[in-house]
Amino acid sequence: MRSIILAGGSGTRLWPLSREKYPKQFLKLNDTSLFQDTVLRCLEVSDISEIFVVTNESQKFFVIGQVEELGSELPLENLLLEPRGKNTLPAICYGMQEITKKFGRSVVGIFSSDHVLDTRAMETIASAENLASEYLITFGISPTSPQTGYGYIKPGEPLGVGYKVSEFKEKPDLEAAEKYIKEGCLWNSGMFLFDTDVFFSELKAHAPEVSDVFENSEDIQEIYGRVPSISIDYGIMEKSGRVATVKIDHRWNDLGNFDAIYNEFDKDKNGNAIYNCDALLVNSTDNLVYSKPKKIVSMIDVKDMVVVDTPDALLVCPRESSQKVKEVVSALKDEE
Ligand code: GDD
Ligand code: MG
Repeated sequence: MRSIILAGGSGTRLWPLSREKYPKQFLKLNDTSLFQDTVLRCLEVSDISEIFVVTNESQKFFVIGQVEELGSELPLENLLLEPRGKNTLPAICYGMQEITKKFGRSVVGIFSSDHVLDTRAMETIASAENLASEYLITFGISPTSPQTGYGYIKPGEPLGVGYKVSEFKEKPDLEAAEKYIKEGCLWNSGMFLFDTDVFFSELKAHAPEVSDVFENSEDIQEIYGRVPSISIDYGIMEKSGRVATVKIDHRWNDLGNFDAIYNEFDKDKNGNAIYNCDALLVNSTDNLVYSKPKKIVSMIDVKDMVVVDTPDALLVCPRESSQKVKEVVSALKDEE
């Protein structure tokens, strides 16, 4: 199986840690970054010559450098640089097209670069290869709350290792998310397994505005100048009648905001997650604190807060407001 790693997002809900020029997938909260963890997982199912990374010019050196740190080398033709971000459908098209050029018809795993995932899940992903010759495969996760930032998958009749999907709904509102959970839906993990032939035929059927642009030009600048910005989820998964899902029972987390980071990583006995700094906390519990090494951060009688201190920006917010951090980034962009 071949792999595509999507590494072009900027992760605005992790501002000020994640920046346009230093996005979250390359940050190292542990020894390795989320991007490096993704490469290591892909190496379980693909040779390095079969791993394609879709990113952009400003992140190119992170990709090359962080793969080198793993003792590997990404072939130059596998590093696909988008002239600008047009969301995940054009990025996947670009990757699928280059894989077809290099290897011919292939089964391809599509991976986000900002997830925490147990490596053993790669076995489940590989087990869906046969199903992929007929269906677009999406991997489902048992939901734990009515999140509105995810896609929802309704499993229908059983099909080999998975189920045919009777409905796929991207980012529903809260009321609909609650309804989908009651109906036994799964979250879309954002990982897919596509056969190149099935993918291009479904692309032509449901997103001709994207497929026409890719078919009519070889020039990536021109393609990205013309192609609309659209995600794989809205562009194909919601519309196709050939979608199947396979459930992943291993640990998965989209580290999309500070609350998710807080929940995922180690905490002290008072429930405080402290990164990169010394914290002097008095009667303070369940906080996330990030600052500079050797800087002492002190908090008194503080509960459930996020404090992220970087050289040029400071964020303080309740953990439950973590989703709103992107509003700060939008406001900053408007000021530019
Ligand atoms: N190369 C490239 N270019 N990569 C991109 C682009 C782009 O324009 N836009 C996003 N990506 C990358 C991100 O870096 C991330 O790794 C991945 O594609 C998914 O994009 P997100 O923007 O994080 O998507 P999402 O989280 O809102 O939604 C998707 O993932 C959810 C699970 O995490 C959807 O697939 C949902 O249905 C799913 O539940
Ligand atoms: Mg995401």
